[in-house]
Amino acid sequence: MVYGFWVSRSLQIMAELGIADTIGDEPKSVEELAQASGTHAPALRRMLRLLTGLGVLVKDEQSQRFGLTELGRMLQKDSPGSVYGSLRAHGHLLSWQAWGDLVSSLKTGQPSVEKFMGDSFFGYMSKHPEDAAIFNGSMAAYQSLNAPAVVGAYDFSTAKSVVDVGGGTGTLLAHILQSHPNLRGALFELPHVKAEATARLSNLGMASRSEVLEGNFFEKIPSGYDIYILSQILHDWDDERSLKILTNVREAMHPGAKLLIVETVLPGDNVSHFGNLYDMAMLVLVGGQERTGTEYTALLEKAGLRIHRVLPTYMPPSVVEVVPA
Ligand SMILES: C[S@@+](CC[C@H](N)C(=O)[O-])C[C@H]1O[C@@H](n2cnc3c(N)ncnc32)[C@H](O)[C@@H]1O
Repeated sequence: MVYGFWVSRSLQIMAELGIADTIGDEPKSVEELAQASGTHAPALRRMLRLLTGLGVLVKDEQSQRFGLTELGRMLQKDSPGSVYGSLRAHGHLLSWQAWGDLVSSLKTGQPSVEKFMGDSFFGYMSKHPEDAAIFNGSMAAYQSLNAPAVVGAYDFSTAKSVVDVGGGTGTLLAHILQSHPNLRGALFELPHVKAEATARLSNLGMASRSEVLEGNFFEKIPSGYDIYILSQILHDWDDERSLKILTNVREAMHPGAKLLIVETVLPGDNVSHFGNLYDMAMLVLVGGQERTGTEYTALLEKAGLRIHRVLPTYMPPSVVEVVPA
């Protein structure tokens, strides 16, 4: 635990330098990798030794070349289950600054990153497209692991339409539409996400069955859909702001409509759970929080909603099916 961040940092830098993609299917020498990444060969050699010990790379003693292990392939940009996007976002200087100043969040309850961004997280991202692309890439990477788990856990077959509110660049929506050919879908997002989301849905062959709607979930959420999805949205906000989003969803829902909250539901104290770490990330980055089942129940009740059932998935988030109270 004490040295854990040295490991994370090494993997983040490996992603930043594109080492896994340079290696590809053909093991490479230290010199080749140093040249491609603009690094000092003897220093890189030591880093590569560390990565072999971590099970990410394997060295062929005869050729003295480094290849990828199965785990190492996950660091390639486009490999199945790639963690490249997550490594780039969590390795971003702003993430480091936010975590480095964790103590100020503990003292104030406010996101430490705002000091470094000079703005709220989403406000900053709307004005800095290059940083937004890195953070959106991380959400898409995480979502490409979560989406099959969500589709496996929930039966969408009785619905005709679905809207993913704050759906990022459309990874979850595309997975849902791909596995339900009769379903139509919409993605509701902030204006700066629209172009990337439209392009992604089109690349995934979903353009004719989906649309991207621009808007702000604190103002109004479009009505008329059978299923509303809030995936990794409520954890970005405190109770007051989350209640506003839920109230707007409730207003948009017709009596038979359902809301699916895709979030990690914290099991409570004395349990080691990935959500506890994510909870801290929400604190330092956006001022949000992960919640227990009891906390979700209380929040939903205030918005005129209730939990119908909680479906665990094989990934950290559960699908919380919510109906009008
Ligand atoms: C943590 S990401 C979750 C993305 C996606 N739902 C997922 O599960 O990966 C939060 C998303 O909320 C969007 N968002 C933030 N504020 C919003 C607002 N006021 N109205 C609509 N979308 C918003 C962001 O652009 C971002 O894509």
